[in-house]
Amino acid sequence: MTAPVLEMREISKAFGDTHALDAFSIALEPGTIHALVGENGAGKSTLIKMMMGIHQPDAGSMVVNGREVTFRTTQEAQAAGLAAIYQEPMVFPDLDVAENIFINHHDRPSFVRWRDLYEEAAAVIDRLGVLVDPRRPASSLTLAEQQTVEIARAISLDARVLIMDEPSASLSDYEVRRLFGIARALRAEGVAVLYISHRLEEVFEIADTVTVMRDGKHVSTRPIAEITEERVVAEMVGRDMQGRFKRMPSAQTGNVLLRVDGLSRAGAFHDISFTVSEGEIVCFSGLVGAGRTDVALALFGIAPPDSGRIEIAGKPVTIASPAAAQRHGIAYVSEDRRKLGIAMAETITANITLPMLDSYCNALGLVDKRAETADAEVFRERLDIRAADLDMTVGTLSGGNQQKVMLAKWLNTKPKLLLVDEPTRGIDIGAKAEVHRIIRDLAAQGVAIVIISSDLPEVLSLADRVIVMREGRFVGEFQGEEATDESVMRLAVGASGDEAA
Ligand SMILES: Nc1ncnc2c1ncn2[C@@H]1O[C@H](COP(=O)(O)OP(=O)(O)OP(=O)(O)O)[C@@H](O)[C@H]1O
Ligand SMILES: [Mg+2]
Repeated sequence: MTAPVLEMREISKAFGDTHALDAFSIALEPGTIHALVGENGAGKSTLIKMMMGIHQPDAGSMVVNGREVTFRTTQEAQAAGLAAIYQEPMVFPDLDVAENIFINHHDRPSFVRWRDLYEEAAAVIDRLGVLVDPRRPASSLTLAEQQTVEIARAISLDARVLIMDEPSASLSDYEVRRLFGIARALRAEGVAVLYISHRLEEVFEIADTVTVMRDGKHVSTRPIAEITEERVVAEMVGRDMQGRFKRMPSAQTGNVLLRVDGLSRAGAFHDISFTVSEGEIVCFSGLVGAGRTDVALALFGIAPPDSGRIEIAGKPVTIASPAAAQRHGIAYVSEDRRKLGIAMAETITANITLPMLDSYCNALGLVDKRAETADAEVFRERLDIRAADLDMTVGTLSGGNQQKVMLAKWLNTKPKLLLVDEPTRGIDIGAKAEVHRIIRDLAAQGVAIVIISSDLPEVLSLADRVIVMREGRFVGEFQGEEATDESVMRLAVGASGDEAA
C-alpha cells in the first residue's frame, strides 16, 4: 500500500440539527480511482466541500502528504494539489477554451503570449486524449466538453487529487466512456481520483476501491473486487433491496393523447413525428445535445416550433406558453433544476404547491396553509424526501432531494401528459426505484408519459417504446422489449451500418 496523498480523519460537520458528517474518515492513494457512494443526503458533497475549503469541519483533521492542513479558501486547497469538478461545470462562456483552462494561473504575467497559451492548452487537452479546439468559445461547448475543460484546468494546476462529484449525471453513456478514458489516463500518471456517482454499474467499471457512507458515517472501504453490487446497495440503504430495474410488462394503453406531426425548429430539431397514448411510456434516447430537450421545450410552450402540428386528444392546439401547456394538461419536469425547476430560496411546501396555488385559495383569495402542508406531506412520504421539516428552504437540501421536490411539484398538478427530462438525475438507487414505480403507477392511471433519459438501464426498464434522436432528427424507434443497450446506443451515436435499420 502506498502512502495516501489525502486523508480525512474523523471529520464531523453539522448544519443546525443536521449532522451531515459524523466522524467520517477516508484515505486517497495516488494512482487509484476511489469511488464514494451513499444515498441522497448521506454527506458526500459536504465532504467534498470540506476538502476544497468551502466548508470547515467542526471536528477532525485533514492531512495532505502526511502534513495536517486547514483550508480556508478553495485557492488554498488548489495550491495543495486538490481539484474538484461538480455536476454543473463552471466555465466562463465569454472566454475561449484556453482562457478557461488557465484562468486560475494567478502567477502568470498579465501580458499573455497568446501563441504559448494555445499551444499549452492543446498540450493539456492532448494529455486527456480528447479533441477540443482551444480557440473555441466556451459558450459553444456541450456539457461534456465543458467538463473536459474543467478537468484540463485541474491538471494544468498539477492537481494530485481530482475529485469528481457526480460528473456523469448529465452525460450520455458515450460521453461517460470518454470521461472514463480521462480518469484512467490520470490514474496512470499517479493522480488520486475520488469518484462520486449514483450509477453503480459505473462504479464497478471504473473504481479500484469503494467507500460506502450512510447518514454521514463510514460504513466500509474495500477493493472493488471484494464486494458485489448487491452488497454495496445493502450497505448504502441499510437493508436488502430486491427486484430493481426489472422490465415490467407494458401497461394497458388507451387512445392517442398526443400526436406530433412534422415538428421543426431551426437549429434545434427537424421533422419530428410521433404519438403517445394514454397509459403509455415513451422514452427519448440519444446523446446529450441530440435535440430531445428542445422537443420537450416546444411541447411545453417554452420554445415554440417554427412549423408542424401538435394535437391533444385529437384536437389541433397551439402551445405558445407554459401556462397554455398547463391548461392542456401538460406538465414538464426540467433537467435543469436551477433554471426552470425550483425556487431555491423557497420552502419545500411552497415549491410543491406553487403551480397549483389557485387551487389552495379560498373564496377570499387566501391560501389554505393546512391544505398546502397536507399535500406536501403526502409527497414527502411518497418520494421519501429527506428533510428535517417542510419549511426548510430547498437550497439547503442535498442534490437528490432537490430533484424529488421538483418531481413532486409537477406530479401535484395531476397532468394528462407528463414530460420528464432526466427524472432520476442525481437520485440514489432506492429513491430511483421509487420514482420508477410512481411513473408506472401514473401510466397505469392513464397518464401519457414522455421521458427523456440518458440513463440507458432506466430507459430499458421503463419504456413501452424508445424513440432515438440524433442531431435534431428522428433516427429510429423500438418497441420496449426490442430495445437493447447496444441497439439503442448504435443508433444514438450513428455507428456505421445502422442507417438501414
Ligand atoms: N448549507 C447547508 N445548510 C443546511 N443543511 C445542509 C447544507 N448543506 C448540506 N446540508 C445537509 O447536509 C446533509 C448532507 O448533504 P450532502 O449534500 O452532503 O449530501 P449528498 O450525499 O451529497 O447527497 P446527494 O446524493 O443527494 O447529492 C443533507 O441532509 C443536507 O440537507
Ligand atoms: Mg451531492
